Order: sequence, then C-alpha cells, then structure tokens
Amino acid sequence: MTTVKIDSVHLRQYVTDAELEAIRPEIVNAKKMLVEGNGKGNGFLGWVDLPATLDPAIVASIKEDVKRLAPKARLFVVIGIGGSYLGARAVIEALQSEFASWSPSQHPFVVYAGHTLSEDYYHQLLQLLDANDYAVAVISKSGTTTEPAVAFRIVKDHLTRKYGAAEASSRIIAITDAARGALHDIAVEEKYPMYVIPDNVGGRFSVLTPVGLLPIAMAGFDIDRLLAGARDMRQQCLGSDSYSENPALHYAALRNILYRKGKKVEMLVNFLPNLKYISEWWKQLYGESEGKEHKGILPHSLSFTTDLHSMGQYVQDGERLMFETFISVGKPAHNVAIPSDERNLDGINYLLDKTLNDINHNAEQGTMIAHRNGGVPVVKIDVPSVDEYVLGQLIYFFEFACGVSGYTLGVNPFDQPGVEAYKKNMFILLEKPGYEGKELV
Ligand code: PA5
Repeated sequence: MTTVKIDSVHLRQYVTDAELEAIRPEIVNAKKMLVEGNGKGNGFLGWVDLPATLDPAIVASIKEDVKRLAPKARLFVVIGIGGSYLGARAVIEALQSEFASWSPSQHPFVVYAGHTLSEDYYHQLLQLLDANDYAVAVISKSGTTTEPAVAFRIVKDHLTRKYGAAEASSRIIAITDAARGALHDIAVEEKYPMYVIPDNVGGRFSVLTPVGLLPIAMAGFDIDRLLAGARDMRQQCLGSDSYSENPALHYAALRNILYRKGKKVEMLVNFLPNLKYISEWWKQLYGESEGKEHKGILPHSLSFTTDLHSMGQYVQDGERLMFETFISVGKPAHNVAIPSDERNLDGINYLLDKTLNDINHNAEQGTMIAHRNGGVPVVKIDVPSVDEYVLGQLIYFFEFACGVSGYTLGVNPFDQPGVEAYKKNMFILLEKPGYEGKELV
C-alpha cells in the first residue's frame, strides 16, 4: 500500500515537465548506483535491504526485552547522539501524547542522554532518576563517541548505586559494533545484553535496526507495523522509474532541480507539533549526507502555524533562497469539537461547522498559496495519518530519496568527514592523551 504521495501543484511556475525529464537520466542512474552498490560509500548500503532482511529473531528479542524491563521501569534512558538517537526520538515523539510524561502508562517514558554535554541537563536527569525506576539503552556504533561515553559513565554510576551491580547490569542494554570499540568491550566485560549495529549501516540510516527499534518498542509502539511500512516503501522505491509511481525519485529530482536554480535552503514544514523530531531526524539525514565539498542544500525546518508567527515573515518576504517541503497529514488520530457560544464575543462562530483539522488544513492551504505566490516553491508530501505504518513508509522514502539525491549532487552521501574537525579541536583543548602538541584545525 502506498501512503506517501508527492503533490507538485505548487511548483508549476518553478519546475517544468521538461526539466523533470532532463534530469531523469541522472536520477535513474543514481538509483541504479544505490541498487547495484557501485557508487561512493557503497560499504554503507545495508539500509537499502534492511526492512526486508532484518532477522525476525532480533525483533523477537527486542519484544522480550520490553516484556522483561517495562514492568520495572517508569523511565527508559536512551543514551546516544546523532543517528544513534534521532530516529527513535522522531518516531516516539510522532506517536506519543505531547503530555506523555504526565500520563499513566504501561510502558516506560523515554528520556534522552548522551546528545548533550550540558552539566545542568545531567543534574536534572539524575534528580529524575533518583525519583523513578528506570532502565537504560546505551547506543553508539563506534563505541567511542565522547558525549554518550560521558553520559553512560554518569548514568551507570547512578544505576549501580541505586540498584546494586547485578541488578544494574540487568537494566542496561548495549547497542554497538559487533567487535570494535570501548562500548563493545564494556558490554562484554559487564555481560550486558547486546544488539549489533550492522557494519554496513551508518548511524543516520540506522533507525530500522535495534538502534531505533528497541526504544520505539520500549515506548509501546508497534515495530512490526513500522517495518511493514518500510518494506512496502522499499518495494516501491526499488520498482518503477516513473515519477508518478516512485515518490523518492520524484522528490530527489525536484530538490536537485530547485538547488541548481539557486534554491539552496530547504525548509521541511509540518502543521503538527508532534512531527518536530521527524524534522530533526530529516535534518541530520540530509545535512550530514549532502553537506560536503562546499555543496548541498541547507536543511532547515519549521512548525506551523506556530512558526508562521515568527519565521513566516521571512519566508514570505525575505531573501528568495529557499523552497519548502510540506508534510501534509490527512487525518488526526483524535477529534476535538469547538464549543458553540451564542454570544460569539470572540467572533469565531463562523468556524462551528468545521473541525479543528479543517481549520488547520485551511491554514496549510493558505500558507502554501501565499508562499508559492511570494516566490517560494512548495513541494507537498501527502500522508493519510501519523501511525507506525505511515512512519515506516516516510522513513524509508526519505532515506532512499537522500541516497538518490546525494549521488545526483555528486557527493558520497554515506560519509561524514566534517564531523571530525570539532572532535579534534575538543580533544586538543581537553588535552586528551595522544593530542599533545597538535594544531587546532
Ligand atoms: O550518522 C552518523 O553516522 C552520526 O551522526 C553518528 O550517528 C553519531 O556521530 C554518533 O556516532 P556513534 O553511534 O558512533 O556514537
């Protein structure tokens, strides 16, 4: 079943059919490089087949871990940074109540660590952990990243003091490389249950491995449906080369055409605040994959209507350097009626025959037209609702389009050499052994 559809009605004055046809050979060639594995970074293409090839024993084991830990943990601390937490957070925050931390639940509430070095953050986290039972997933592919290593040292110490060494070990799950890295060695030494991140799957493409699946299942969401959505979208992405049947090729073509016309910034727009972390995940996926060799679209994101009252002015009237990609969601999961009021002092009785969702969609439609007419090309991605199946489709769609788009841009979408520069400087400034006398870059 297809749930992700590209609507290009707001692009007519910006991208012609002839331009779409002209770029098609490059797009189809980029797809071929992904499928045949003969492009740059081809050691990191494991994600292409992941939804179809993931060992069911891994999914079964994740469900066992949830059964074992959920009854004794009010909180589940996910320690990781970048691709080691953003995918899980994107799906969990898209599906859970905005007020989940205040609601009773049979599943642990997921909190995050290892994505920051803020001392106050860890002080506040430890206070929360003092007051609540919890379990931990520590996630790092390299097993050597400083931020999660520091966070794990702090949380592990707290866990051990709270529960004693044996019970603490049973409340920790490590997700890391099969053989390398400090986290792997600690997990073996301490006998933590462990999941492996496949060698050929990079961090930002790893949400459909235990990196994403364990926290998502722990939070109470259906990972079978997530994988089913991704599997169906994979078939679609690997299938037809026609733009109308392959939304990933269409999206990759549109963004490359717009980029070549000087649209160097892409704003991912949603009208639902629970999609905020989908945008954060998407920004990492596209920013880290394409931003290299002084090339690449700058990914940015906006949550409307909230940001129409802050960034809306710039989008409407500022520099014409961006295009927007709207994720338009058909139906909400719940309904809330607008109460009638005979006195109508607020003047909004004219809305009474509409749902809140109708009003939100009219705001969305009005915004797309205003921005399009103001000089901002608008790509619209329609999805029917937000559920596990649709999110699985959306994740695979964005990943595949990212690979195609990066190859069309001419970069290696699967490395991230630029991330090393800050680390080197930080290690020199911290006087890490081995960095003595090295020059800041
Ligand atoms: O996409 C990536 O590869 C990065 O964002 C990594 O996920 C991030 O740097 C964390 O790395 P690691 O999982 O090795 O700790």
